[in-house]
Amino acid sequence: MSIKPSEVTPEPCFQLKGKSMLNLADWAPEEVEYVLNHAIEMKKGKESPFYSRYENALGGQTLGMIFEKPSTRTRVSFEVGMFQLGGQAIYLNTNDIQLGRGESIEDTAQVLSRYVDAVMIRTHAHETLTRFDQYANIPVINGLCDLYHPTQVLADLLTIKEHKGKLQGLRIAYIGDGKNNMAHTLLLGATMMGMDMTVASPDDDLPQADIYEKAKEMATQSGAQLHLTTDPHAATKGVDVVITDVWTSMGQEDEQEARMKRLEPYQVNTDLCSHAATDYIFLHCLPAHRGEEVTADIIDGGHSVVFDEAENRLHAQKALLYAVMSR
Ligand code: CP
Ligand code: NVA
Repeated sequence: MSIKPSEVTPEPCFQLKGKSMLNLADWAPEEVEYVLNHAIEMKKGKESPFYSRYENALGGQTLGMIFEKPSTRTRVSFEVGMFQLGGQAIYLNTNDIQLGRGESIEDTAQVLSRYVDAVMIRTHAHETLTRFDQYANIPVINGLCDLYHPTQVLADLLTIKEHKGKLQGLRIAYIGDGKNNMAHTLLLGATMMGMDMTVASPDDDLPQADIYEKAKEMATQSGAQLHLTTDPHAATKGVDVVITDVWTSMGQEDEQEARMKRLEPYQVNTDLCSHAATDYIFLHCLPAHRGEEVTADIIDGGHSVVFDEAENRLHAQKALLYAVMSR
């Protein structure tokens, strides 16, 4: 999809420089829209009339990247993104820094604030991010925690906008583990942007109540519809977007067997997708487990946009870094 240059606000009336992204719900819809519009422009490369503005926009700046869990996409896209904007990124695995040996989050936040210009953290507890943010005087970006995955959902929104030309009014079905970081963040991101969303999950895997309530509030503000069901077939009826995620998230490996059993009826396969709109798109943040949450014919089939989605991590995050870090 192409976007008119006028849709990229040159001087937004809101201030994003210095703003952290711990939870998508902390950002206003117009701020998220601003990031998405810049991401669309950045993806055009030299074809964009804004190219010169982005080139070297983060020259001399450094992003610290703290990882407590493994990553392919998040690590590589943030590192490449910083490089493409003229800055650099430093990979900090918690096993290799003093944080992993018990140095406090508060001290680490204050020390890193003296060296780097922003920090991205992938961690277990959301509280690690909020405590770090409280003691850091630089922007802190959530690169996934047990509750949320905002930078992935920015890329998902970008991918949907790119393929469908809009977000408002579209219908999206999330099928599977409704209580994980992806389900939670999609609930917030979709309702914030005015998309009708249905989550289909077993009773034991429904979204966390306070997050669902927040999404309901956002749906009321945007005019979106929000539904929860245990029936994946009803959820998929007529939808424009089908999305799923792994049944066992990082850190839940001990529960794998029980989860597989519980979530088996929620597999995204040809039968399930036959209820969706004829031009539906399939998304998955990856890594995927073919034969578990999704069959190979769906994820490798004509409706799947998962590799555009993975690529869009780079563009969406560059736009986010530009928004919160550029001078
Ligand atoms: N989707 C995603 O966050 O992938 P990684 O775990 O590889 O970073
Ligand atoms: N829900 C998954 C997302 C991986 C990118 C996990 O937390 O493992």
